[in-house]
Amino acid sequence: MIGTEQGKATGGKEISAENFAFLQQQVYRESGIVLEPGKQYLVEARLAPIARQHGLASVNELCNLLRAVSNDGLRRRVVEAMTTNETQFFREPAQYEALRTTLLGELLAARRSPRPLTCWSAAASTGQEAYSLAMLAAEMGLAANDCDILGTDLAEAVLERARAGRYSQLEVNRGLPAAYLVKYFTRQGLEWILKEEIRRRVRFQRHDLRDSARHLGPFDLVFCRNVLIYFDHETKRRILQLVREAMYPGGYLLLGAVETILDLDHLFERRRVGQAIVYRAR
Ligand SMILES: C[S@@+](CC[C@H](N)C(=O)[O-])C[C@H]1O[C@@H](n2cnc3c(N)ncnc32)[C@H](O)[C@@H]1O
Repeated sequence: MIGTEQGKATGGKEISAENFAFLQQQVYRESGIVLEPGKQYLVEARLAPIARQHGLASVNELCNLLRAVSNDGLRRRVVEAMTTNETQFFREPAQYEALRTTLLGELLAARRSPRPLTCWSAAASTGQEAYSLAMLAAEMGLAANDCDILGTDLAEAVLERARAGRYSQLEVNRGLPAAYLVKYFTRQGLEWILKEEIRRRVRFQRHDLRDSARHLGPFDLVFCRNVLIYFDHETKRRILQLVREAMYPGGYLLLGAVETILDLDHLFERRRVGQAIVYRAR
């Protein structure tokens, strides 16, 4: 079955070892993402549509084009196509519960002067994570200017979708409480549109996690979830250091369920809040 799908995706021409290695290098250089050996099928499935749009018969031909011309737009599209943008509203609910019961209150109380809480969704994808926080803040009675939320991602295509705040039925079915759907969305045809009162609480911009984020912060709260898994050890370490540099001491970092702070205990203190593990910036 997979063989048949593979054949369809690539016009019957499987990606050569040389071209797979070329794409591994390109994707690593442009995003830090490690394409493990054995991911040829994924590469073919994701890049065959781009090859077709350029009138090319296969991903091998797309690689030839990438080598032959200096086309930043095409290179970026190829790299973006290799990112995994899977996300959902209120993913890992225990973390939102920790924010609601404990962390947001603590962070608000710890501010030295009246200023908005600064929050960063650091691999925001299509925006569900940042908007979940915005809905939670609204539910807790925080005004829009009490809580400044920034969503960033490497991929422009997902940021466009995040800014639009339009979601399919399938997307709102995943993780979003029905009461929030009714309260904060309006239906338009087959889509659900997030109301302006929540959308205006979040800004989105492009940022590569491998670059310094000092100019974006400092932040009280950072979500850096389900993205470190795509990087090698050194890149993970470097990104965690850069994230820490963009945080207030005492701020909180939230990671994905299988992600950790590695050996960086001098930068973050592990803390359990209810069912959630969170990391407090030292
Ligand atoms: C699986 S999604 C995670 C979405 C959300 N944080 C969540 O947990 O539901 C991973 C996101 O990381 C982004 N990404 C990958 N490499 C990146 C990099 N070097 N800098 C910034 N974002 C990156 C991808 O574009 C993708 O949207």
